[in-house]
Amino acid sequence: MTPIQFSSGDVIADRRADYARMLAEAGDHAAAAELIEQALEIVPGWTAGWFLLGDYCEKAALPAKAIEAFSRVAEQDDTGLFGAELKLALLGAAPTPETPPSAYVEGLFDDYADRFETALVEKLNYSVPQKLFSMVAPHAPFARVVDLGCGTGLFGVEVAAVTQRLEGFDLSANMLAKAQEKGLYHHLGQADLSDASAVDSLFAAELPRQRADLVSAADVLMYLGSLGTTFGLVRALLRPGGLFAFSVEDGGDTAEGFSLQPSLRYAHAEAYVQALLAECGFTLLDLMKTDIRMDAGKPVFGILFLARLTA
Ligand SMILES: C[S@@+](CC[C@H](N)C(=O)[O-])C[C@H]1O[C@@H](n2cnc3c(N)ncnc32)[C@H](O)[C@@H]1O
Repeated sequence: MTPIQFSSGDVIADRRADYARMLAEAGDHAAAAELIEQALEIVPGWTAGWFLLGDYCEKAALPAKAIEAFSRVAEQDDTGLFGAELKLALLGAAPTPETPPSAYVEGLFDDYADRFETALVEKLNYSVPQKLFSMVAPHAPFARVVDLGCGTGLFGVEVAAVTQRLEGFDLSANMLAKAQEKGLYHHLGQADLSDASAVDSLFAAELPRQRADLVSAADVLMYLGSLGTTFGLVRALLRPGGLFAFSVEDGGDTAEGFSLQPSLRYAHAEAYVQALLAECGFTLLDLMKTDIRMDAGKPVFGILFLARLTA
């Protein structure tokens, strides 16, 4: 992926951007927006600058200007790295994307990988791996587990002792590198679960179809939105009778099935997940509604599912 260009390439514009950042940190987002606008007059092609302008305008309660700035980012950023379309959707200026741009999620986690465990586990009370493992433990041991969106390997830590062969797949190379350091996974690979062509890496040489007796996705599906493609991949990974254990953020009973949250993650309705499980041939074995982590000082509520492939 291409790194985000945080320097504008112009010394004066960079200096204005630095002042803008200081003003934003002090809480004066309107003044920060004015300074970044001045920087953008010098370097109008600076995509990260337009993103900062959108961010400051949003925080300064200037939604029309924020929409203008994020639209400019969307025009200039064909990879979707900045996630501007998610911002536009939240501001009501674009439809909610079925899935976020993969480059945005990949960039987010590549950047986060070094801090992930301290940030999430130590500071935000992240508990999905342990809670999900408590649901699958009665079905252990496992011959072959495929951990989707394995991240740094926190679910691997729980399940490794009762698993003969553990595989992990993730979109982010930096998260995979952290999982590798744990030395728990027999195979690690890069795969995008929102893309049906992920089959190429999930089923490469010596990785046959229908090989897993457990597929897990701990705290992953909130980065996906529509889940049809991923559930299809899970079905192809599982042997008949195999288990699928996963979590979603609890979206209540939203009619659309999933909704984009201010956190830029998706929340899913229980009814949407249950219907999709049934459609893909799964029978629900267990469900847990619980808090899964803190965000901005408040608990985030999730639903953990355990289902069996029966049809
Ligand atoms: C919050 S982390 C959870 C990691 C791990 N499962 C755990 O419980 O600690 C979410 C992980 O999902 C991965 N992810 C998000 N979207 C993905 C996608 N479309 N395909 C593959 N992995 C994805 C991210 O790269 C990240 O490592």
